[in-house]
Order: sequence, then C-alpha cells, then structure tokens
Amino acid sequence: MCEPAHYRIDYEINPWMRRANAVQTERANEQWRGLYETLAALGVEVDLVEQGADTPDMTFTANAGIVVGERFIPANFRFPERQLEEARFIRWFEAHGYRIETVHEPHYWEGEGDVLPGEGVGFAGYRFRTEFRALDHVDELLGRETVRLELTDPRFYHLDTCLAPLGGGHALFYPPAFTEAARAALAENFSALIAVSEHDAARFACNAVLAGQTVVLNTGCAETVRVLREHGFVVVETPMDEFMKAGGSAKCLVLMLDAFTEFEGQGRP
Ligand code: ARG
Repeated sequence: MCEPAHYRIDYEINPWMRRANAVQTERANEQWRGLYETLAALGVEVDLVEQGADTPDMTFTANAGIVVGERFIPANFRFPERQLEEARFIRWFEAHGYRIETVHEPHYWEGEGDVLPGEGVGFAGYRFRTEFRALDHVDELLGRETVRLELTDPRFYHLDTCLAPLGGGHALFYPPAFTEAARAALAENFSALIAVSEHDAARFACNAVLAGQTVVLNTGCAETVRVLREHGFVVVETPMDEFMKAGGSAKCLVLMLDAFTEFEGQGRP
C-alpha cells in the first residue's frame, strides 16, 4: 500500500475524475488509514511504498504491476500522467529482492487493476487501459493463459472495478461492464457469480479486498453486503469516498504480494 501523502486530482483520465472536485486531504488520509487498519486487524501484513510528489495517483498501488512469487512484472501505464510511477515501483521491488521482468513495450497494461488471480487461473480485462496484445506476454510470464475479458463501460475501466474473485467459486461482478462473450467466460469459471446492482457497482462494490473469508469494501453497498453475508462471507465496510473522486476504492489501494505465488516456476521471461 502507499500512504496518500501526495494524492490529488491533477488531471482527468477516467470519467470519475474532475479537477474541480478536489481531494479533502485530511479525510483521504483518515479513509486510507481506516482501510490499512482494517486489513492489519484481519492479519494482513502490509508493506508500504512512498508516494512521490509528482505521482498523485500512486496511492492506487494495484496498478503497479503483478507479483509472481519472486518476480515483479511492472505495468506500462497508458497515460503519461501515471508513467512516472513505473520507476518508483520498480525501485521498491528491486530494493526488496524481486526480479523484474517487463512486458514488451509499447503495449499498455495496468497490473493488478486488470489482471486478477482466481483459483489456478488468471483473469485479464482489456480495452480501456490494458491492450489485448499486452496480454500475450503477460500470459508468457505467468506460464498460463489468462481468461480474457473485454470491458464495455468507461466507468469500469479496470477489471478490478467490475470483478472480484472471492474463492470457492464465488465472485462479485457487474454484468453490464462486460461483453456477452466475457460474461459467458465468467459463467464458465465461477460456480457462484454474484451480480451487483448498478447502484452498488457505482459505489465500487466490486472493488473489494478479500482477506481470508472477509470481504472489505466501500460503504453504501447495502444490497451487496447482504448477499455476501448470505453466501457466508464476513463483510467489513469502510468509507472510500475520497478515493472514488479518482475512480478507485479499496482494492485499487492494494497490490497483493502473494497474488500469483502458485504460478511461480511456470513462466519464462
Ligand atoms: N485515477 C486512477 C486512474 O485512473 C485510479 C486507478 C484505480 N485503480 C484501479 N486498480 N482500478 O488510473
């Protein structure tokens, strides 16, 4: 995670961002701390990377890349506004003993924002940020073919804004954010898909963090919370409004260091 020391809306690269809608710094810090403490209390070990003053979106660490065991595969950000983050994240992973393996430039792809681990399989969203052809190389590095999912709604521009794999065949998803083919692929891969309403999807219900059997998500998603509890999950709601201003919520603020550990040893650079 990355404490939002320099989190601001300096530019507009998705439909949620408006420069006029400035971040309330104090509130953002409190909300970020709330998420951090929630995860820590659930037993999640959190490492921190420092935000650069010139990288206002860097607090959304999910986009840094993906971690496959001892390897870090850094993102190639689509927008120049976020490209300065790449070197900072790479430096952190190098300093922590990871091997860096890059996806061929100039294909854009945005890390765990678009490539999520399922059970023995990876899911990859593309169109708005990640390019389809970048995924060929992501697949090579993972050593397995990801399930490719085409996104349709610019509000849900990253896969982690409209899909949350939760283990045991469960996943939260917002159906209209996917093409018909993508919905069919999801139905094939999950036995217990939970469709989220437009209201809750727009509160980033799908941008949830899973810690054990506990799902951590933004406040204001009452229906999703109720259904998750029916499915046996423990749910913790924590306010993320300040981060919605940049088009993100809980999951965007977290990069899972053990996401693809089970894929280790399979890919080749
Ligand atoms: N403002 C950031 C962007 O548009 C938000 C990133 C949200 N991250 C995510 N994993 N969905 O790039």
